Amino acid sequence: MDAQSQNDRVAWFRGRIGKCSHLPGRLNRPLRVVLLGAPGVGKGTQAALLSRRYGACHLSTGDLLREAKTQNSREQTLALSSALNYMRHGALVPDTIVWQLVRERSGCFQCPGGFILDGFPRTLAQAAALQHLMEAEALQLDAVINFELPASEIVARLSGRRTCANCKAVFHITSQPPQFADTCDRCGGVLYQREDDRAKAIAVRLQASERSTAPLIDFYSAKGLLSSVPAAGEPDQVCLRTMAALEEREVNRAAEAHSGNASVAAL
Ligand code: AP5
Repeated sequence: MDAQSQNDRVAWFRGRIGKCSHLPGRLNRPLRVVLLGAPGVGKGTQAALLSRRYGACHLSTGDLLREAKTQNSREQTLALSSALNYMRHGALVPDTIVWQLVRERSGCFQCPGGFILDGFPRTLAQAAALQHLMEAEALQLDAVINFELPASEIVARLSGRRTCANCKAVFHITSQPPQFADTCDRCGGVLYQREDDRAKAIAVRLQASERSTAPLIDFYSAKGLLSSVPAAGEPDQVCLRTMAALEEREVNRAAEAHSGNASVAAL
């Protein structure tokens, strides 16, 4: 199934007034994961691949903020325009603003296909807020995947990235070039270079990410949810590694549930 091309993520982009045009059917075990890793490590690329594979919706706070930029000024609240200013310079947007945006879209956490969170949470405060929301919605995360890649490769990935202004599909001028220059293979939209992919903003983003990701790794590791995946190699290879990590977690979870049931039966 090409779920990604069917789900236009309108509910995520437009909040309560938005409705997705194609929702996946309810799955027995919808996948609910968080992707962590430095800017440019390939979270968005992997989210798109995993979304196609599992039918889970790709919920990216970066895409959400960039989409908000295209709204007319009447639709843009003061909080949103200040958020866009932080983003332009590569700095993290304040937690209160990000949380306000995510909370307005909490319906997306109930997506029948599950979800893949990309770029959220990014701080401990956001992780704690997400945990409360998940508890309130009676949902559980299946896994948190932390993608790892040397800094030199990250910079090469970011400086060659091109993004579709319309459907947000991601390309790279050498490793994933579009068929026709500056044109999205998926929807024909115009490809552009993100403002925060300029050298100065990249340096700020990498520093901000180093500071914010380490505590998140500890937080999710303590909860037994973290799996680290090397992000080097072709996108499909990274995706296979990620799927193997998810499947390993699922096998372990089933084995634990089985041994728990066996101990209850023995009582
Ligand atoms: P966001 O959009 O989330 O950016 P990011 O985390 O910096 O991550 P990127 O989108 O830059 O990279 P990615 O890991 O998704 O890599 P991609 O797949 O595109 O956030 C942007 C900004 O918004 C933040 O800086 C902040 O200001 C704000 N923000 C967002 N969320 C926030 C939050 N929760 N709190 C506060 N502020 C927030 O890949 C990169 C390139 O590499 C592409 O060209 C791709 O084609 C290529 N590539 C991918 N995989 C491979 C591969 N395996 N081999 C070769 N090339 C590859």
